[in-house]
Parts: sequence; C-alpha cells; structure tokens
Amino acid sequence: MILPIYTYGLSVLRKEAEEVPADFSELETLVQDMFDTLAKSEGVGLAAPQIGRSLRLVVVDLDVLAEDEPQYAGFRKAYVNPEIKEYGRQQDTYDEGCLSLPGINEKVKRPTSIRIAWKDVDGTEHDEWVEGFLARVLQHECDHLDGKVFTDRLSPLRKQMVKKKLLAISKGKVSAAYKIKTSH
Ligand code: NI
Repeated sequence: MILPIYTYGLSVLRKEAEEVPADFSELETLVQDMFDTLAKSEGVGLAAPQIGRSLRLVVVDLDVLAEDEPQYAGFRKAYVNPEIKEYGRQQDTYDEGCLSLPGINEKVKRPTSIRIAWKDVDGTEHDEWVEGFLARVLQHECDHLDGKVFTDRLSPLRKQMVKKKLLAISKGKVSAAYKIKTSH
C-alpha cells in the first residue's frame, strides 16, 4: 500500500523514534508499504517517521541507480533498529534531498564510511562497515530516527537561504509528484 509522505512541519519528523519491539506483528506489512511508497516517490531511502510512524525502521532501495552503478542492482534492504556505531575519518560533500522536504536540495558534508548495526526483518543481526552512497543514505535516514532533517546540518548561511522554503512547506504551500501529508 502506498502511504502519504509526511512533510516538514509535522511533529513526528522532530521526534526521537521508538525502538521496534521484537514481537512487532506489523513489521512485514509496514516494510512492504514503505518499499511501495519509496518506489512510487522514486526515492532511495525512507524512514518510518516519514510515513507518520515514530519507529526506528528504515528502508533503502538503490536498485533505481543500477543503470549508472551496477553494484546496486537489486539492492533493497530494510534496517530494523539501525545504530551507527562508528564513523570513518574521511568526509565528502554531496547534494542531498528528502521526500519530506520537496524542492530543497543542498550540499551536506558527512563521513564517507560508517559502521552500522541493525536487524533485518527476520531478526538476523548485522554489524558492518559500509561506504559510499549507501553510507550517505543510511546517515540521512538514521538522522530521521533522531528527529533530524538534512537541513539541520547546513551552515548558518545556507540555513538562512532555505528558511523561507522550509516555512512554506510547514504551511502546506508545497507540491510533489507523490502523495504527501502536510500540517495544514
Ligand atoms: Ni529524508
């Protein structure tokens, strides 16, 4: 089922999300709905707060990049209770966008590698170093679980530049090619 994407200004995006309980019976359905929603909006990552659920759950679909980046062919993963354990020393800057902040794209500096632990839908535990585009997407999505959005990471000057756009989104003056929910 395709769900509406919650946009900037809705309080769920600013909340610290709850751990997914071990016996969470909705998990499979919710993950499927998140993959459907992500595919429809042509995004690469989606965190549960973005569909209005304050849970530590992320889905990533990098298959859409496979034409340019063959190593991502078929890459679709759900991350239950992901936790970034370590950051690599190198950083780079990359243009980010967010389905919850339609029309805003800004360069964000982040570490190029992270060590991340998570469970998959079957409960299997993982703990791996990841790098490159995947590391960036996971950092962006894990920020959502802590009530952060990527514009929080901009310089004071760039923050000032996007302020009006953020205000417009939070007032519901926004449109997107996918279904959204606004606070007005
Ligand atoms: Ni986002």
